[in-house]
Amino acid sequence: MRLAVNIDHIATVRNARGEQDPDPVAAALLAEQCGAAGIVCHLREDRRHIKDDDLARLRKAITTKLDLEMAMTDELQQIALKTKPELITLVPEKREELTTEGGFDIDRHFKGLLAFIKPFKPAGIEVSLFIEPEKKAIDLSAEAGATMVELHTGLYAQKQGGEQKLELERIRKAAIYAKSIGLKVVAGHGLNYLNIAPFRKLTEIEEVSIGHAIIARAVFTGLDEAVREMLRIIR
Ligand code: PXP
Repeated sequence: MRLAVNIDHIATVRNARGEQDPDPVAAALLAEQCGAAGIVCHLREDRRHIKDDDLARLRKAITTKLDLEMAMTDELQQIALKTKPELITLVPEKREELTTEGGFDIDRHFKGLLAFIKPFKPAGIEVSLFIEPEKKAIDLSAEAGATMVELHTGLYAQKQGGEQKLELERIRKAAIYAKSIGLKVVAGHGLNYLNIAPFRKLTEIEEVSIGHAIIARAVFTGLDEAVREMLRIIR
């Protein structure tokens, strides 16, 4: 199973001071060096973390695979076609949410999606839809022209015990079905160091997309050396 690393929250920290550091592009290159198979960034409508300039610099620097998460808007469509990431992942986006809150409502947006997805294939950009692990959403994704689905694991991450097992089973069945109809299958949202292990058995899932847990962990795995280095200088 491959790992794609979402570097949005490096930009969140950088933006807190409006300065250059930490640079999400440097973080992306480090993640690649460590074995990440791809880099994910979400250019949100309000640009709260990744900015247009970050996306352009990421495009130039990334040597694995750039996955641009984005809402289905005309503005983002133009940016994506110009930037040419290897992959776009369409997500539902609400301005007031802290993070993406669930899968795409394909039923509601189906007509618009067909037209929206059309220009990406000739541009050599693969399209993935972030959806709930449900048969209907998978069927509609394929009909709309997506070649990949990202199964939403947020509910799995929120649940515990038996309820979590049930949600994992729902994801497993969805992954098997999506693969059987020819879609590539990835998964993400809320995955962390404690809940990821069972996914190793879900061989239909080619890749997991993880952001928050990795950036949060990096603060603590890196803080020790950062404090010692400053002390070495001031002493
Ligand atoms: N996949 C999608 C579609 C997302 O929107 C996000 C959050 O940006 C992720 C994966 C990563 O989620 P997390 O930050 O919880 O690992």
